[in-house]
Amino acid sequence: MNLSVGIAAAGLAALALSSCGPRGNKANVELIQDMMESPAIKAQEYDETSPHHSGMRVPPEGTAPVGFEPYRYATDVEGASKNLKNPLAGQMDETTLLVGQKYYETNCAICHGFKGEGGVAAKSSVSEKMALKPPAVISDKVKAWPDGHLYHVITMGQGVMGPYAAHIPQKYRWQVVNYIRFLEKQSK
Ligand code: HEC
Repeated sequence: MNLSVGIAAAGLAALALSSCGPRGNKANVELIQDMMESPAIKAQEYDETSPHHSGMRVPPEGTAPVGFEPYRYATDVEGASKNLKNPLAGQMDETTLLVGQKYYETNCAICHGFKGEGGVAAKSSVSEKMALKPPAVISDKVKAWPDGHLYHVITMGQGVMGPYAAHIPQKYRWQVVNYIRFLEKQSK
């Protein structure tokens, strides 16, 4: 090995060592910067080469993400209520309810209350400031709905309530429906 290569190698090794291990709050040493700053365009980043300079692209026409299942009742509450059948109907086991509870408490409780009691009773920091108080989801009205109607409201929203399709994956929405049914039973 010639001397300069040897020195360079030793220097690199020292740098590599100094960049590993616990370093408190010190910034990382970027040894090989190409690996850290990838040329890939991140979502919402400026992109010189795209037509509108937006990093996000419109998917090519006629394509769908892997695993995507179209929702055919986007504007058809009645159709959803009538035709969507809850594959977990009546399942109140712990696993089902824990999944439902996780998504309900993450996404819905802030407005509808942890017990589904509705915005006025729930007194959450969000619902307090809303002009239209989020209604109870354990009301007689919602109790009378078919499960498909509840699924539809989670997927598409209702009135001023936005859709939660992006927050609750399709495969966990029925668990949320069952959890609301569970809250309804608890409220009796
Ligand atoms: C930011 C507050 C907010 C969040 C979060 C929220 N909702 Fe709502 N929700 C509302 C409001 C407000 C309404 C009444 C909307 C309307 O009818 O215009 C409503 C309506 C509903 C209704 C219909 C009740 C009725 O009597 O018509 C159901 C069911 C419901 N929400 C369930 C949910 C579920 C399930 C989640 C979580 C996935 C959720 N909501 C998240 C505010 C919220």
